[in-house]
Amino acid sequence: MEKIKVMSIFGTRPEAIKMAPLIKELERCEEIESKVCVTAQHREMLDQVLEHFNITADFDLNVMKEKQSLSGVTNRILIGMEEIFNQYTPDLILVHGDTTTTFSSSLAAFYKQIQVGHVEAGLRSFDKHFPYPEEINRKLTGVLADMHFAPTANSKENLLREGVKEEDIFVTGNTVIDAMNFTVQDNYKFKCEELNLIDFNKKIIMVTAHRRENWGSGIRNICNAIKEIVGRNENVEVIYSVHLNPVVKDMVKEVLGETERVHLLPPLDASDAHNLMNKCFMVMTDSGGLQEEAPHLGKPVIVLRDVTERPEAVKAGTVKLVGTNYDKIIKETEDVLNNQQVYNKMKSAINPYGDGKASKRIVESILYKFNKCCEKPEEFKGEEF
Ligand code: UD1
Repeated sequence: MEKIKVMSIFGTRPEAIKMAPLIKELERCEEIESKVCVTAQHREMLDQVLEHFNITADFDLNVMKEKQSLSGVTNRILIGMEEIFNQYTPDLILVHGDTTTTFSSSLAAFYKQIQVGHVEAGLRSFDKHFPYPEEINRKLTGVLADMHFAPTANSKENLLREGVKEEDIFVTGNTVIDAMNFTVQDNYKFKCEELNLIDFNKKIIMVTAHRRENWGSGIRNICNAIKEIVGRNENVEVIYSVHLNPVVKDMVKEVLGETERVHLLPPLDASDAHNLMNKCFMVMTDSGGLQEEAPHLGKPVIVLRDVTERPEAVKAGTVKLVGTNYDKIIKETEDVLNNQQVYNKMKSAINPYGDGKASKRIVESILYKFNKCCEKPEEFKGEEF
């Protein structure tokens, strides 16, 4: 029996976390030959995830350069993937989300007439500059894709409105919830020793912020606001896991480096990050993934962006879109910190994003598409708000 040749391609930390459970599921399926290709758009942050989930790459483009430009990364991936496809031609590639790796690999596959499966398809902020360049990366990948794995009914609607055929869309839930079922544990011991010393009876705020559109004044406002919040609220401690990008790292260190009760940590591995989220009081972030993870754990989220491509948890009330205005960040965060009613309203655990079975649905969808089974898998139905 001919196996379906599936190559999963990713390059950054968030893609790796969300692709890991899917790769495990692909490996378990006897009708699929699964290969893994990393572009290594990130190096250290990617390797950390590969090691954690025990995934070995069959192909590694190793494209990362210090202070890389978007065009440089795009170019190196496009050329590199062509060479890999000349050595090994899959029937289908799987890409994830909205990074430059996602878009460039899809384009390279299309040029070779290889089918593209887009995991986490159909999210839209409807603003081409926010998130930048991710909104456009995700849209362009959608144009190239043959199979669209939409996490929610809402993302499916976005695709239908853009003219994608219903038969090519599979509503699966988000694989990040599959990953969290694996990583989050009671009585978890952190690998990062500093976290084992934190008193979680205090109000611990977990922070991440690194987005390109926030570089400069955005990140500076965020850091200054954090400084003010910690200064005014004695029971608050901040744990900021700082991205390795020097543009981000240097500014965070400059503003918050010497601030009492602010812990600046290097990027945490997926288990430490998910368990920190599970134990903290609330989250402040400009990341996309945390907007999905925190609601699943019932943690209020202040989103340091003006628009989001993930409206489900905003609608449900767990996530508040605040942006990067200094005064507004302080006001909204202190509201969650000090007003029990506001906190209680935001903290209920919801799961509009997944039920832990997304990877299974994606594999079943591939079998269906390649005529190995005759029924389209049932769609994931998240909670409605
Ligand atoms: C990328 C993605 C973004 C995603 C983010 C998650 C694009 C355009 N952006 O942004 O969507 O949310 O990853 O982290 O695809 N660096 C290291 N070591 C690492 C990783 C990064 O040193 O392991 C430094 C390098 O100097 C690199 C810089 O970070 O030049 C930027 O990395 P890049 O992938 O270009 O953009 P991110 O801001 O990480």
